[in-house]
Amino acid sequence: MAPINFQVNGKQRSVDVSPDTPLLWVLRDTLGLTGTKFGCGMSLCGSCTVHLDGEAIRSCVTPVSAVAGKRVTTIEGLSADRSHPLQQAWIAEDVPQCGYCQSGQIMAAAALLVKRPKPSDAEIDEAMSGSLCRCGAYQRIRRAIHRAAASTKPAPPRSTPKATGGAR
Ligand code: FES
Ligand code: FES
Repeated sequence: MAPINFQVNGKQRSVDVSPDTPLLWVLRDTLGLTGTKFGCGMSLCGSCTVHLDGEAIRSCVTPVSAVAGKRVTTIEGLSADRSHPLQQAWIAEDVPQCGYCQSGQIMAAAALLVKRPKPSDAEIDEAMSGSLCRCGAYQRIRRAIHRAAASTKPAPPRSTPKATGGAR
C-alpha cells in the first residue's frame, strides 16, 4: 500500500493506512490530533468538522484517500496560542459547557467567517445548523461568532502609489 501524503496544519504528513480509513481516525489515532471529536460517525452532528483546502468537511465520512495532496486544518492548527478571534470570542462569551462539540463548532464558524466576515444571524444559523450541541449552547455560539466578526479588522485597502515628488 502506497503511503498517502497530505498537509496537516501546515506540515507535510505521510500515513500508511488503508485508503478508506476515515480521516477522523487518521487525525486522532495515527497523528495524535485528538482535538477533533467523534460524535455520530454518520455526518449528522458536526463534532468531527475540519477544513479541507479551507472548506468545512466532516472528517468521519471522508476517506483519507480523498485528502491526498490537499491541506487539512484541525482545531490544533487554527492558531498556535489560542489567539484566533473565534477562540478569543469563545473564551470571552464562556461558550462551552461539556465542550465535546466545541472544536467542530469553532471550525464550522471559522469556515463561515472566511466566506462571510460579518455574517447575519440567519447566515450564522444556516452555516451552523449541522453542528449539534447537546448542551444547547447555541445562543452563546451565535454571540461569540458576532464578537469574533466584530473584532476582525477588514482587509486593509490596497495601497495607492506614493507621490514621488519628482519634476512637475
Ligand atoms: S462524528 Fe462526524 S458528523 Fe458526527
Ligand atoms: S457544549 Fe456540550 S455538546 Fe456542546
